[in-house]
Amino acid sequence: MNSINTYQQLIEEALKGKNYGSNPKELYAPIEYIMSLGGKRMRPVLVLMACELFDGDVKKALHPSLAIELFHNFTLVHDDIMDKAPLRRGKQTVHAKWNDNIAILSGDAMMVRAYQELCKADAALLPVLLEIFSDTAAKVCEGQQLDMNYEALPRVAIPSYLKMIELKTAVLLGGALKIGAIVGGAREEDAQRLYDFGKHVGVAFQLQDDILDVYADAEKFGKQKGGDIIANKKTYLLLKAIEMAESNRYMKEELQQWIAAPHFDPKDKVEAVTNIYNFLNVKELARTEMKKHFDLAIDCLKDIPVAADKKQALVAFAESLMVREV
Ligand code: IPE
Ligand code: IPE
Ligand code: MG
Ligand code: MG
Ligand code: MG
Repeated sequence: MNSINTYQQLIEEALKGKNYGSNPKELYAPIEYIMSLGGKRMRPVLVLMACELFDGDVKKALHPSLAIELFHNFTLVHDDIMDKAPLRRGKQTVHAKWNDNIAILSGDAMMVRAYQELCKADAALLPVLLEIFSDTAAKVCEGQQLDMNYEALPRVAIPSYLKMIELKTAVLLGGALKIGAIVGGAREEDAQRLYDFGKHVGVAFQLQDDILDVYADAEKFGKQKGGDIIANKKTYLLLKAIEMAESNRYMKEELQQWIAAPHFDPKDKVEAVTNIYNFLNVKELARTEMKKHFDLAIDCLKDIPVAADKKQALVAFAESLMVREV
């Protein structure tokens, strides 16, 4: 079993050799830019890990893993337009560095490149891989639309929030693992178990992402801190705060005022809402929910007929995501 570092290196090297296109440069330069900014590369790592779990040839999983990373980066470019985010991986977002239209089109081109990369996989597996990939991609769009819809709502039920993050974030981890498993020669039911593992890890991962948006170390984080608060994102933290402030009239009014305010100093809003979160201790509640999904994830591994020590790499990987700082 390779280490996560080895997988990351493999992916980094393969990405370095890529030429996404050159003309017109406004279309391709942003792709080069965002792909070279790094990132954790965790989704392609999951593809390779899943393949190796079933003793598959990791080389055969490389193209699908790059397809997943390209797709992920495409979603980030469009997500940053939608979220009006200025920073990504410590650098300007594509739409901030160029403009919205360039970010839209280069994102589209990345999606096309992702499909082209996937099509380099073993022809016999392609219909199945394309189906998993496309189904996953459509679900991400559904989740992103719900995320946008929820921004405008005064409140959202926790189960609706959990479904939204399952779609926008978690299914891509599941899809990455399922694709890797299929390439590795897994049976359909085992590939599905791994998909479910990824789905639960992904929900936990997005809960941690919501926590980091407020509580990350600004130096390390690489994104605008408090962006979710500024945009009224219905995160677990905000939904729990709305729920708990119900019994405290002063707190309820203050929170509602910030949510409804058409004009505000972003710094003031982030500080005030963070103080409310701290007072209500919602970070701990989010961590408890996160832990719950981590445990559900681990549970999905138990019926996969593979030696426990081989599954350990996936467990360790999931653990590392729960304590991540970026
Ligand atoms: C960011 O994903 C988008 C979310 C689903 C929260 P990552 O945190 O994996 O971003 P990179 O690729 O490592 O930058
Ligand atoms: C991102 O969720 C989900 C997708 C990109 C599909 P966020 O909007 O929370 O991700 P970040 O925080 O911008 O990375
Ligand atoms: Mg975002
Ligand atoms: Mg978003
Ligand atoms: Mg986020």
